[in-house]
Amino acid sequence: MDYKDLKIPNHVGIIMDGNGRWAKERGMSRSKGHEAGFENLKKLSEYIYSKGVKVLSIYAFSTENFKRSKQEVDFLMNLFENKFKEYSNRLKEKNVKIVFSGKKEAPLPNGVIRIMNEIEEDTKDRTDGILNICINYGGHLEIVEATKKISALVRDGKLSLDDITEENFYHYLFQDLPPIDFLIRTSGEIRISNFMLYQLSYAEMYFPKIYFPAFDEDCFDEAILAYNKRDRRFGGIKDENTNH
Ligand code: IPE
Ligand code: IPE
Ligand code: MG
Repeated sequence: MDYKDLKIPNHVGIIMDGNGRWAKERGMSRSKGHEAGFENLKKLSEYIYSKGVKVLSIYAFSTENFKRSKQEVDFLMNLFENKFKEYSNRLKEKNVKIVFSGKKEAPLPNGVIRIMNEIEEDTKDRTDGILNICINYGGHLEIVEATKKISALVRDGKLSLDDITEENFYHYLFQDLPPIDFLIRTSGEIRISNFMLYQLSYAEMYFPKIYFPAFDEDCFDEAILAYNKRDRRFGGIKDENTNH
């Protein structure tokens, strides 16, 4: 689809949900659903950058996802450890930097933490776009961690209370990214599940009833058309002179 006359969100968030149900519908294991979801992500993310989106944040594994079976958690951790490097190389062509949000510590396996650090280092000089991958991530956790960083700076006399603002609070989050303009959650669930709470304050939200492995380029086109119909007011009033 031609995006020429369309508004393109600067920062898109995707809660990639429904891998398990996609697989179940096909009589396959949940693992196959995660594999299919990852394959879809590779194609979809390249398409999204090619349309002019600068920042893409994706929810890959929440702090709460550790409640799942050991088998499923191990499968996902192996996928991150073994497949992310290739993905990062593939994004080189698009000059996209990869960063991770979330706590890089146990229960994340050391192998995954090592890969995350290596990828951040390898891609740090890429300048055309950012892929923010949320792993061992929680929105509450992120805000609490930011509060701790700020408190320590204030305690040590390096930051004064008056210098903490809504704008520079972003600086203390896991990654210093712009606010999210457009959030897509696949699978039909209408909830945020602890995803990027601070950055989502004025995001437009879109909840297609389609599982993530099936959310392809055409589905993204449809999402962008829906985004273009939204009237983003940010608390203001569009036409000040009517309806008094
Ligand atoms: C999202 O798909 C991927 C992760 C949470 C890692 P799910 O695994 O949640 O799939 P459903 O929601 O069970 O279908
Ligand atoms: C959110 O999906 C987390 C990811 C997509 C990684 P979940 O499937 O974990 O969310 P709930 O449990 O349905 O809220
Ligand atoms: Mg789910």
